[in-house]
Amino acid sequence: MVVTAGCMEAVVMCLKAVTKPGDTVAIENPTYFGIFQVIESLGLKALEISADPLTGIDPARLEKLIGRFPIKACVFVTNFSNPVGACMPDDKKEQLVRLITKHRIPLIEDDIYGELYFGKHRPKTCKSFDREGWVLYCSSLSKSLSPGYRIGWTLAGRFTQEVLRTKMIHTVTGTSLTQEAIAHFLSIGRYEFHLRRLRKALHTQCLRYIQGIMTWFPEGTRISRPQGGFVLWVELDRKINAYRLYQEALKHGISVAPGQLFSAQPNFSNYLRISYARPWDTEVEEGLGTLGRLIRNYRS
Ligand SMILES: Cc1ncc(COP(=O)(O)O)c(C=O)c1O
Repeated sequence: MVVTAGCMEAVVMCLKAVTKPGDTVAIENPTYFGIFQVIESLGLKALEISADPLTGIDPARLEKLIGRFPIKACVFVTNFSNPVGACMPDDKKEQLVRLITKHRIPLIEDDIYGELYFGKHRPKTCKSFDREGWVLYCSSLSKSLSPGYRIGWTLAGRFTQEVLRTKMIHTVTGTSLTQEAIAHFLSIGRYEFHLRRLRKALHTQCLRYIQGIMTWFPEGTRISRPQGGFVLWVELDRKINAYRLYQEALKHGISVAPGQLFSAQPNFSNYLRISYARPWDTEVEEGLGTLGRLIRNYRS
């Protein structure tokens, strides 16, 4: 395991280990904008693959694209993706690992939301099906504890030495003091206790926010029903430009993420990502009410 400064550094180190500038990297569409930025800054090309809102990437579709494009690596958020909230079923994960192993294509699996499940069991990871080391698993404590600790990690399989070397060149080593403190917290069982409470709270907040959106937003609004994580993907009327709405909302002290941030194509200009990480209170309720009013009064 290589410890990193958060999940994003893990993804960067893994991408650097398995690609060179000009290479093509497959990502989900829509995908977390941080992944786009990294791909761009490393001089890579992104191949956006439509992902099912419930089950994520379809391995059969990926296989067809492997035949048509020189895909050098994949970066997928397999559990509760950001922004859609899709969770790839276990059998699809297994198929995906078989496929990338057959084609010898490294899969960088970003599992940052994996611990935040609402069901009885933690969803599996692609890494758990990886027998030949082609999956580079990345995660961190940023979503499940706090982003401020900057503690993440990667299990980079057959690329571990290359990732270690890249990490050493870039940051020499991680901060050992915070690692010591977190290691203590993990070893005394407090983390498990914290996670159990957090999952319950997030599930309740998810339902409360959905109810709020259904109350305040116009008829025809469509909302994702994630089974974990903490973001909702909301589809608005086609005439709404989510970026303009985002700017209007900011004037009222409301922060949402417009769909345009999550794809290089114009398909999501009427979508919003709304985080339900903040506990429900009257301010949130009023914020959703204001957002609903801005949408109803929107003039194109
Ligand atoms: C899918 C995904 N990966 C990585 C990150 C960044 O993680 P970290 O703060 O641990 O670098 C985020 C943050 O929003 C994310 O949504």
